[in-house]
Amino acid sequence: VDITKYLIDTSELIEEHLNRLVPEKEVPYRSLLRAARYALLGGGKRLRPILTIATTEAFKGCLDAAIAPACALEMIHTYSLIHDDLPCMDNDDFRRGKPSLHKAFPEGHAVLAGDFLLTHAFAVLAEAPGLSAEQKVSLVTILGKSAGGEGMIAGQILDIEAVGTEVDLDALQLIHQKKTGEMIVASVEFGGIISHATYEQMEILRKFGQEIGLAFQIVDDILDVTASQEKHGKAVASDVINDKSTYVTLLGLQKSQALAEKLFQSAIKRLDQLPINGALLTNLARLFVNRTH
Ligand code: IPE
Ligand code: IPE
Ligand code: MG
Ligand code: MG
Ligand code: MG
Repeated sequence: VDITKYLIDTSELIEEHLNRLVPEKEVPYRSLLRAARYALLGGGKRLRPILTIATTEAFKGCLDAAIAPACALEMIHTYSLIHDDLPCMDNDDFRRGKPSLHKAFPEGHAVLAGDFLLTHAFAVLAEAPGLSAEQKVSLVTILGKSAGGEGMIAGQILDIEAVGTEVDLDALQLIHQKKTGEMIVASVEFGGIISHATYEQMEILRKFGQEIGLAFQIVDDILDVTASQEKHGKAVASDVINDKSTYVTLLGLQKSQALAEKLFQSAIKRLDQLPINGALLTNLARLFVNRTH
């Protein structure tokens, strides 16, 4: 597989559908739509929706049916970034190559655009074409749990509570698994549900997702230290400025990179247990660990 072309084509497909799912409208509340579109469109690597589509492709599931669920994931992810950047959270002014939403719009608009994308994601899922009612209930359940109070939000609360404290590696792993890992697990689970994967196959997919999800956030910690804002498209040195414990502060750069690599190796081995051609997911997982932004 030509992974570069695959990424470009698939992210274009996602972009086109996101644009349709959050359209401009000449309504009295059009500023809400404009704010949501500012954050959602024209930026972002789209790795979670791409993971859903690639997993569906690997299982030879229906690709058309994967698009709306993939967009729902990206809406939740974008909302999480909008709120993550707010002054009361990480207080970061730069995101996806431009000023953060609360810098381009009033702060209240940023909060509400996040709320909008969060709720809209579930409406999009419920209305997703080409899926059975049972499949849609499974997707709603997975997303509600992984984005919710036992998942991403739990991770975010632990993350802000840990500011300025000494966190050990186990505690940091839990934060990373929850704030970032859970949404990545959900992305592969989505592909499994859309393709009618078996219970055993879902278990394997979840483990694959957990490992690449943790590796992804370890690399995020690394890039916060090593990347430039220009290249990264978002504020860098945010963790240092906010006095956060990260894999880099606990293990150093080299050991963190080595751990991400180890997680990658373990993750791709799991793909051998699935009745799929693992090349596409292996290439994507590689990107999670070797990315430079
Ligand atoms: C950033 O995610 C936030 C984390 C969970 C680490 P991405 O690195 O996927 O950000 P975008 O979507 O490409 O902007
Ligand atoms: C964010 O982790 C995880 C989210 C749920 C948004 P970070 O705070 O490290 O993400 P960045 O570095 O701002 O993208
Ligand atoms: Mg954060
Ligand atoms: Mg942040
Ligand atoms: Mg970060």
